Amino acid sequence: MAVGIFDSGLGGLTVWQAVRAQMPDLAIHYLADSAHAPYGVRDAEDIHRLTKAAVERLWASGCDLVVLACNTASAAALRRLQEAGVPEGKRVLGVFVPLIEALTERDWGDNSPPREVQVKNVALFATPATVSSRAFQRELAFRAIGVDVEAQACGGVVDAIEDGDMILAEALVRSHVDALKRKMPAPQAAILGCTHYPLVEDVFQKALGADVKVFSQPKLVAASLADYLERRPEMLGAGETNMFLTTGDPKRVSDRATQFLRRQITFEAA
Ligand code: DGL
Repeated sequence: MAVGIFDSGLGGLTVWQAVRAQMPDLAIHYLADSAHAPYGVRDAEDIHRLTKAAVERLWASGCDLVVLACNTASAAALRRLQEAGVPEGKRVLGVFVPLIEALTERDWGDNSPPREVQVKNVALFATPATVSSRAFQRELAFRAIGVDVEAQACGGVVDAIEDGDMILAEALVRSHVDALKRKMPAPQAAILGCTHYPLVEDVFQKALGADVKVFSQPKLVAASLADYLERRPEMLGAGETNMFLTTGDPKRVSDRATQFLRRQITFEAA
């Protein structure tokens, strides 16, 4: 039985790692659309087309439930995929609702009207496509009132991480945090709205300062997935084995994944 996890590239492995830690026996098929990463500089139409193809690939490999471990795909394609209707018995879920529920002190699926929450000034770091979609602000407005969100599109960070150039990724993070602080000098909380960013979370935290609470997705998504599967065990799917698939060069992607997770990860061609 397998659950699908999808990202444009390696960032979703941060979610994979947390899900693996939370549910060691769960079979997972991970798909990285490395040939088309990064998604964050593409338009919504393109992101929808690529995400749809990736989700269908995972459904075909035996996953009934696919998690978009990619905020860019969640922001630009999830709603459209769900509204178009998915095949009988299949589901696709995104990653930013668990994060926003944590930020707004809500339990899973609490759909009560928006209310005042403790945090008032929030910095959002995400890809250009996620920022321009305003999907975070929309989801937040369903749950909270009076929260000021300042978004920073972090151009270049995903490319640098995919290329394994962590010195460049870290320098870019510091300059994006500086740019954010010029617009919002004292955020109380920061959202890492891209699954690649947990790989440089300590750089965000250091640049923001210790008093800024940084919200990162992997553990929140893993906990919410565990909760979902407990309530919906029929969504475990038909696949049995673990798999790492990529549309890119399996050797190159395996080397980078192994470097990031500090464990052997072997990708095969999708
Ligand atoms: N990890 C993806 C996200 O969460 C990266 C997007 C990209 O490919 O630019 O947004």
